[in-house]
Amino acid sequence: MRIRGNPDRVRAVPATSGAPIPARDTAVAPDTLPGAGALRAGQAPGAWPVVGHLPDLLRRPLAFMDSLPAHGDIVRVRIGLRDAYVLCHPELVRRVLTDSRVFDREGPLYEKVRAALGNGLASCPRADHRGQRRVLQPAFHHKRLERYAQVMSVEVETLTDRWRSGQVVDAVDEMFRLTTAVAVRTLFSSDFPAPVAEELRDCLDVFLRGVYTRVLMPAVDAVPSPGRRRYRRALVRWRALVSGIIAEYRAAGVDQDDVLSLLLAARDDSGRPLSDHELCDQVALLVLAGAETTSSALAWCVQLLGSHSDVLDRLQTEADTVLGGSIATWDDLPDLTFTHRVVQEVLRLYPPAWAITRTTVEPVELAGEQLALGSMVICSPYVIHRRDDFFPDAAAFDPDRWQNGHPHREAYLPFGLGANKCIGEAFGLAEATLALASLVSRWHLRPLPTRSSKAAPRSVLAPGSLPVLVDARLPTPRP
Ligand code: HEM
Repeated sequence: MRIRGNPDRVRAVPATSGAPIPARDTAVAPDTLPGAGALRAGQAPGAWPVVGHLPDLLRRPLAFMDSLPAHGDIVRVRIGLRDAYVLCHPELVRRVLTDSRVFDREGPLYEKVRAALGNGLASCPRADHRGQRRVLQPAFHHKRLERYAQVMSVEVETLTDRWRSGQVVDAVDEMFRLTTAVAVRTLFSSDFPAPVAEELRDCLDVFLRGVYTRVLMPAVDAVPSPGRRRYRRALVRWRALVSGIIAEYRAAGVDQDDVLSLLLAARDDSGRPLSDHELCDQVALLVLAGAETTSSALAWCVQLLGSHSDVLDRLQTEADTVLGGSIATWDDLPDLTFTHRVVQEVLRLYPPAWAITRTTVEPVELAGEQLALGSMVICSPYVIHRRDDFFPDAAAFDPDRWQNGHPHREAYLPFGLGANKCIGEAFGLAEATLALASLVSRWHLRPLPTRSSKAAPRSVLAPGSLPVLVDARLPTPRP
């Protein structure tokens, strides 16, 4: 039987006075993991009674995360009355993400995601994971990617055809529009009206904006408010739209060579087809996992290129040489090597999955820290990717650091690792590379000054908004 985490048994740091609780740093003996050296357990300073570090996590989450490695490799923080442990060392992350028997996908985030979007591959606990991964794996087979890449190229063209020189667009919205269109059109290739695709996208947007707040402050749902109504309405509408699409597929009964057709034909370990409910869950979670991650990577690319003209020049030269003004296709990918390095580097500085959470399903010791049953563990690629000891001059945007491989590959975790490692890694990388090369080939994108272009971490790390002035450019024709 699967043991569920029991949050009541989590140790709470006693709130002794109105003042922040001071830091504690404890050096411990070397962990058993190779190469880790002496891992340190510590505690983040500044926890307030009752709310703990919630104000930091809500108001300045990245600055707060940036401050944690100074306090240890595993750092205890308080979220309300609960303890959570942020892992700042790749060896600890490896131990957690490769041991789902002890560190499972349980806890408040997954409860919220499952309650909202269901029990799909990106949200299910260990007990359901193997069977679900087996069902979905063929949809991500390399030979299918070529077909998905055709959709990507068409959607990049459709998106940018709407732009006019001199127009200001929000790059965050536009990239999200692109990647949801790609996700929706690769899941369901059958033609449904553009307004339906737009509505799916809007529902997802409301959900993604709402879920981070709900994880940190579950009480927001206890009070009736326009935000709560909007959030619930979006979820109901999303499910209704997806159910409608599934019903149409069943009625048509033809293999449309897309992800939904594959799921309709799939059988679970006992030979049973997936129910409508299970199909709905898978579809929702695939769009959720695939769309905003890739769109936020692309939005960060646009933002960073705005302040790194040397990198932009090299990107444009590569795009001109390889594409000569055309939209990039699958066949161009092997030649877009610098573009690929830019994407890799952006995923290092701004990993969309900035905090991957697990919950202990039995008490365990980690680097000298005793974790009670039900403790939340946060693996943060964001924190690890910015450590100077793994990535020299870590704050610098330097795509060339990837030119000859990287000495600390194990510290680069934008796609996670272990059994839950991203199933869509090749999909996301192909999409980001094709889109970026096509965009810089045909357009100058100039970010405009704004106060909200700084990171606004939701469940995914994305810029808040990013207004850019778009101007058509004349690429050098392909030689
Ligand atoms: C740049 C783009 C992407 C990034 C940075 C990213 C990142 C991640 C990470 C870190 C995980 C591991 C989460 C965990 O351990 O709990 C993950 C899992 C997952 N991703 Fe992605 N992802 C990206 C694109 C995609 C795309 C395009 C799809 C689908 C079309 C996708 C589908 C999934 C699914 C289904 C899982 C769950 C896998 C499992 O538990 O077996 N991702 N992703």
